[in-house]
Amino acid sequence: MDNNKNWIDQRFPLTKVWNEHLAEYYTPRNFNFWYFFGSLAMLVLVMQIVTGIFLTMHFKPDELKAFASVEYIMRDVNWGWLIRYLHSTGASAFFIVIYLHMYRGLLYGSYKSPRELIWILGMVLYIALMAEAFMGYVLPWGQMSYWGAKVIISLFGSVPLIGPDLLVWILGDYAVGDPALNRFFSLHVIALPLILVILVFLHIVALHTVGSNNPDGVEIKKNKDKNGIPKDGIPFHPYYSVKDIVGVVVFLMIFSAVVFFAPAMNGYFLEHANFIEANPLKTPEHIAPLWYLTPFYSVLRAIPPMFNSQFPGVVGMFSALLILLALPWLDRSKVKSIRYRSWPYKVALGVFVVSFITLGWLGMEPVTKTNSILARVFTVIYFGFFILMPWFTSIGKTKEVPKRVTGK
Ligand code: HEM
Repeated sequence: MDNNKNWIDQRFPLTKVWNEHLAEYYTPRNFNFWYFFGSLAMLVLVMQIVTGIFLTMHFKPDELKAFASVEYIMRDVNWGWLIRYLHSTGASAFFIVIYLHMYRGLLYGSYKSPRELIWILGMVLYIALMAEAFMGYVLPWGQMSYWGAKVIISLFGSVPLIGPDLLVWILGDYAVGDPALNRFFSLHVIALPLILVILVFLHIVALHTVGSNNPDGVEIKKNKDKNGIPKDGIPFHPYYSVKDIVGVVVFLMIFSAVVFFAPAMNGYFLEHANFIEANPLKTPEHIAPLWYLTPFYSVLRAIPPMFNSQFPGVVGMFSALLILLALPWLDRSKVKSIRYRSWPYKVALGVFVVSFITLGWLGMEPVTKTNSILARVFTVIYFGFFILMPWFTSIGKTKEVPKRVTGK
């Protein structure tokens, strides 16, 4: 065994990488519940890729065959129903995990210096993931696949001057049809997964360059023993590799329950209308994207058209997403963790979470007068969180941050 190890090590830095990133990678000893979601996101990514490979073996990216090929997977392919439900439920699970992972960043100020790049790479991951999920949902060519794609892609048509040409360029046609389905398939099964994997790699490289933050927001590298090991650090392996397995087991229990008992989640994970084949002549009564995109969809709908153009809404929607990139620079607080922050930040974060969830819920509801007013109010609150952040993070009294991480 040792001989083999030497043989490899002379040709490839296996032991070096193992030690630098696992066995001798020192991680804060106070990780809590919120630190499970990074490793879970990696698990879900792998699961999506593996189940996706098997779905691709049977799926036909052709507007005349796509819907039937999915039905074939569900009924005739051995274990096809399981592979498909793992993949469709996996998409929603991915976003649940990612939203909790991002919220952890807000709780503990993980985006703050020196971790700005980890956050930015995370944001690019999030945007790529949204594109990946959106295109994946088009593939089964159900009613929502078709009409969802039509609504979202037509937004690009509202861009001044180049809009109509842009639309034709994206679709490869004048309407959503075979060329769009083909290119979305190609992007969904190869381009975006590849980008996601590369981004995750870069995300981890950036993380391992500066080291993890933790629930106290204390920089453990500032307090090392005489051997240069952080006093509050423990080797990632075996301590966190084992702890993460606990998270994986609990996650898989909940995930399996959904896959086996409620894979469509009453229309939240697979919309009812998507069990009906796409019909360009029959618009569904109510078109909405899946839950993880609806906060931004709500912002889009909240902003009224100007000069008969939806462009202001489109700008609003993308701004709502991209403004998250600025977080490391908008937050002026001297402390990172919520544990030591002043009360204005705590209140603002609470209000922000309420606004995001409410916008998400409104995006799934039909447009009514009350809903439109609510969407406008919460859109203002959503943007207010970011615009006012430099102010509310610099007022109020923060608690003193301890020198060492606390026990919990
Ligand atoms: C496929 C998607 C993603 C994967 C696989 C992933 C993976 C990870 C892993 C394994 C960690 C270290 C463990 C942990 O802290 O939980 C981490 C940390 C981090 N991630 Fe992600 N991540 C993803 C997306 C995101 C997104 C969307 C954001 C934010 C926009 C983000 C922001 C961060 C930050 C700020 C940290 C450092 C946290 C800290 O040290 O407190 N990540 N990520």
